[in-house]
Amino acid sequence: MFLIGQSISFTTREGIIMTEAAAKARILELTQEINHHNDLYYQKDQSVISDLEFDQLLKELISLEGEFPHLKFPDSPSQRVGGTITKQFPTVVHKNPMLSLSNTYSEEDLRDFDQRVRKGLGDKPYEYFCELKFDGVAISLAYEYGILTRGVTRGDGTKGDDVTANIKTIRSIPLSVGKVDTPSYFEARGEVFMPRDAFIALNQSREVAGEELFANARNTASGTLKMQDSSVVASRKLDCFLYSLMTDDQKIYSHEKAIQMLINMGFNVSPTFARCSSIEDVLDYIKKWEEKRLELPLDTDGIVIKVNSMEQQKALGFTAKSPRWAIAYKYKSQSAATLLNSITYQVGRTGAITPVANLQPVQLAGTTVKRASLHNANEIERLDLRIGDTVFVEKGGDIIPKVTAVDLALRKPDLSKVTFPNHCPECETPLERNEGEANHYCPNITGCRPQAIGRILHFIHRNAMDIDSLGEKTVALLYDKGLLKDPADLYELKYEDIFQLEGFKEQATSNILQGIENSKVQSLSKVVFGLGIRFVGRTVAEKLVQSLKSMQAIMDAREEALLEIPEIGQRIAESVVLYFKDEDNLVMVKRLKDAGLKMTTEDDISIENGPLSDKSFVISGVFEHFSREEIQDLIKINGGKLVSSVSGNTDYLVAGNNMGPSKRQKAEKLGIEIISESDLQLLIKG
Ligand code: IVH
Repeated sequence: MFLIGQSISFTTREGIIMTEAAAKARILELTQEINHHNDLYYQKDQSVISDLEFDQLLKELISLEGEFPHLKFPDSPSQRVGGTITKQFPTVVHKNPMLSLSNTYSEEDLRDFDQRVRKGLGDKPYEYFCELKFDGVAISLAYEYGILTRGVTRGDGTKGDDVTANIKTIRSIPLSVGKVDTPSYFEARGEVFMPRDAFIALNQSREVAGEELFANARNTASGTLKMQDSSVVASRKLDCFLYSLMTDDQKIYSHEKAIQMLINMGFNVSPTFARCSSIEDVLDYIKKWEEKRLELPLDTDGIVIKVNSMEQQKALGFTAKSPRWAIAYKYKSQSAATLLNSITYQVGRTGAITPVANLQPVQLAGTTVKRASLHNANEIERLDLRIGDTVFVEKGGDIIPKVTAVDLALRKPDLSKVTFPNHCPECETPLERNEGEANHYCPNITGCRPQAIGRILHFIHRNAMDIDSLGEKTVALLYDKGLLKDPADLYELKYEDIFQLEGFKEQATSNILQGIENSKVQSLSKVVFGLGIRFVGRTVAEKLVQSLKSMQAIMDAREEALLEIPEIGQRIAESVVLYFKDEDNLVMVKRLKDAGLKMTTEDDISIENGPLSDKSFVISGVFEHFSREEIQDLIKINGGKLVSSVSGNTDYLVAGNNMGPSKRQKAEKLGIEIISESDLQLLIKG
């Protein structure tokens, strides 16, 4: 820190000396620029800079705010990236309860509703306002003097959870709104959702990471909003449509006017609404959106019909649970009837038994459905299934179609009830079912073929130890030959073990062994993830490692200590403790340690004499063969240093596709070598 004349100056992390006044000016400039790009992107569907350039602006802002914390304003766009950890969300009582809507599935019910409204309003003229019913999580956002102060979930309708830090990461929710016409206090209510594209992309990356897939976008949005680490929420790409504005400060005459005010203040309002002058218009709206809604970026399950005039809404009032001035019309989900041919019981990596219905192929919503999930024994019981039944299958927001009911009218006599097996279909071991759990498990962890193979495949997965020289077939072959029973056996495989297998020549054998050897550089969090502990996905493994720093500490941690860690709840804590109570697991971890795998975060620190040591790298763009994270790991593992922006001290710029032009120009100007991902691999190989 220096004192120059009257003004205070700081040395920023990038080594630039900056006065407070200059920092303030730059912070304001960056804030404006970021808000401008956010507005272009979310309100006008335009993007004039790449994601990476956008991230760069945010990074600079965060870094300046780190140096000058008193210049961090409550509506700074830096809050979008999260970082706050909330172990327990405080409960907040809603100023006005968040009610639900009564549902209807028929035109007749809707006409009855219309009659009730007509009568209730004493035959005075009235209008409706129709919106789609978004399938997400209801949220209430409080703004005081234009600043977003609180985001609360619906909860039980009377009180919900304060999830403000997570809400602030949703880019389309304004952190502050313009001063003109803005009530000094208002609540905007709407639906937080995960766009279908984001949901599919998230599941794809989970698949690549060997993590359990999410069933549907709604539950994923709901789970994400309750995550403890807001930076994980920020990475999940949630969005929000607003459909209600409540304030005591101003008289708002109609729902339409409230919607217009929300739009003017910069909120994201789905442009699918319409004012309808009669119930006939409402029915037309319902027809219009029945198919068209499937093209929207999110799941919708119906429409909401609201009386437009606020005065008339007040006159109609509420029942105990819902308003008399609104109703939801639900579209029937697409379903088809078909025959249940058989049920297969699959054994997963964790030993969980999943029943799957094998169906007579049937067309549903543009695809042929042959199989459907039956979840567990309770579901089979609930449906009262029999092989040979005619069943209804539905495809809602869920990725796997589900069996929803049996057509009892078509049931043939003599069909016997399906009974859930009490022995493992693969290894004949008696199945177990823990109290309170829906799933049956095969407890034969080491001896049950699909479990053992599944565990090894998980361990060698790209996002765990990344042994790509081994494939599913080879692992199965080695398992069947008795050479590979658990992940630790990999490191004890000998040349002859593999070479003797049919079809394995010298090159293939050495490749496999080299791949196994190379995996020893993988970080501790990858080792922990690779163990395949139930409920310990990639993020949880990283959190465990960040907090506890060594395998030994994770093994020794008690439930209470684990519960202190972000993202670790009761279910995960119990699972971790249980895993390390098992003697076989302890022996396996010890063997992994003896084989030379990373067991502490200190082991993770870059190799001092690695091929990239003393070299600094900037990475930019999208790569063909690696994810950004993988390129970063590759550089770190080989001793290189990662820096975020190009400067005179940078040695290499690793350039992918769609790299920002400014980085390239700067690198060219400074004479920094620009290399591709394959050049990087060559550098490492030496
Ligand atoms: S208005 C008094 N409008 O549906 C209730 N709700 O069953 C006012 N929802 O909890 C709610 N889209 O989560 C309204 N366009 C929309 C909606 C909508 C979805 C959800 C909301 C609410 C539930 C009511």
